[in-house]
Amino acid sequence: MARKKIVAGNWKMNKTSIEAKQLVSELIPLVEGADVDVVVCTPFTALCTAAEALAGTPIAVGAQNLHFEEKGAFTGEISADMLLALGVKYVIIGHSERRQYFAETDETVNKKIKTALAKGLVPIVCCGESLEQRELGVTSELVRSQIKIAFSGVTAEQMRGIVIAYEPIWAIGTGKTATAEQANEVCAVIRSVIGELYGAAVADVIRIQYGGSMNAANAAELMAQPDIDGGLIGGASLKAEDFSKIVRYKG
Ligand code: 13P
Repeated sequence: MARKKIVAGNWKMNKTSIEAKQLVSELIPLVEGADVDVVVCTPFTALCTAAEALAGTPIAVGAQNLHFEEKGAFTGEISADMLLALGVKYVIIGHSERRQYFAETDETVNKKIKTALAKGLVPIVCCGESLEQRELGVTSELVRSQIKIAFSGVTAEQMRGIVIAYEPIWAIGTGKTATAEQANEVCAVIRSVIGELYGAAVADVIRIQYGGSMNAANAAELMAQPDIDGGLIGGASLKAEDFSKIVRYKG
């Protein structure tokens, strides 16, 4: 069975709610009729306006993080229920910037995934190696371990709907894209670990995105790889035209 591609924009800490409304309004006509799933992951403060502007369109809204606890004394944090109440469907979990700057670990990623799944949000789970790790030749081992810990306690049924994003840290925001072969190689490793843990049927349906300096010029080649099922786009998702070109990578 062919997997439907999924292209998600990770806006990171960009766009006020007013700017978000403008950007999604421009995006709606540009991606109309696209045969891929399209998601925009806005900052928390723009989720409400983005969800309102996108209601009734095929473009889904995602958050960039959530807290694993249901509610309580966690100053500054956002719960799954708060996201769901705004119409959010997806949530990015374990982005390398959160691991690097906000002390996220494979263990907190695991807790967040379980909470998101229990609540009915679709996790987009990020993994990937640093340049140092790649040069040491430990990319496969590292990614395998990230995946095993991240999904510990997650059932095969829950796994089917999950999206995984392979994002080599050295390719994020640097303009250095992994070659299509390099990206596919690690996506294939990820699919094989999922196969070992959950069986071939689950490995076959799970969608694995590539992220890291993906743009209109390199999207088609990356997406043509057998184990790459879409993209998680940073910089190029901040302009409607650029993002829509990736969504319409087939031309
Ligand atoms: P860039 O597309 O800006 O390299 O960012 C990728 C990314 O981190 C998406 O989550």
